[in-house]
Amino acid sequence: MSHLIFAANWKMNNGPSGAVAFLRTFLSHYPRQYDRTMIFFPSAVAVTTVAEEVKDRPDIEVGVQNIYWEDKGAFTGELSAAMARESGASYALIGHSERRHVFGETEEETALKCAAAQRGGLTPILCVGETLGEREAGEAERVVARQLRTGLSKIPAGTTVVVAYEPVWAIGTGRNATPEDASRMHAHIRANLRQLTGEKGAGVPVLYGGSVSAGNVAELLAASYVDGVLVGGASLQPSTWSAIARTTVEEPQAAPDLIEES
Ligand code: PGA
Repeated sequence: MSHLIFAANWKMNNGPSGAVAFLRTFLSHYPRQYDRTMIFFPSAVAVTTVAEEVKDRPDIEVGVQNIYWEDKGAFTGELSAAMARESGASYALIGHSERRHVFGETEEETALKCAAAQRGGLTPILCVGETLGEREAGEAERVVARQLRTGLSKIPAGTTVVVAYEPVWAIGTGRNATPEDASRMHAHIRANLRQLTGEKGAGVPVLYGGSVSAGNVAELLAASYVDGVLVGGASLQPSTWSAIARTTVEEPQAAPDLIEES
């Protein structure tokens, strides 16, 4: 079993005081772990606070939910990778489905943002995933392959990246992908990563996200090619998040053959 990643996307919840209240409760119930890394994605205004609270925990990292692709300048309201890094972040979510579907972020923009993250010293977590309509039309694999190809097109070879598969129909809906669905798509993503980034693609962690809960996390993590989870709603309560993050993972099921890019 590879090193696991448990990522908490707090979305537009928890300012600095909410973050402190959460972490003081959470950390007292969550001792240091050696087989997994946790990454908190608080709102931008709480990044420094969270980084300060977890500074003695090498197993806990901090990230930002979004960045802009320019390094600095007259871009009111935006945040650069270097600023995020200076505030204590080491990861950036790129192309989360709410960025794409609520704010109209394009695939081309995700490529610019991945490149900006790399330049600014952040590890990009590129989020990909099909809508329900695309899945029902049999387009899911093709859409995800395209999002990966475009999103990773502007970063130099050898850049450290993480990918999160988050089917849009599963985010915040209570309807998660089945472990079989996740496993099939993760195999497809892994095969595409090999094509796009060569052997290094084999080492890119691929997270699953979309209605992960304390009740379904074990079976999702046991699915083959799932290296961790990206969790929204269920990461907002310290006790639920602690239950999720302490999940013991059984050996993965027999891996299906990798599906070549369609
Ligand atoms: P959810 O969100 O866990 O609330 O479905 C996941 C995400 O948006 O990353």
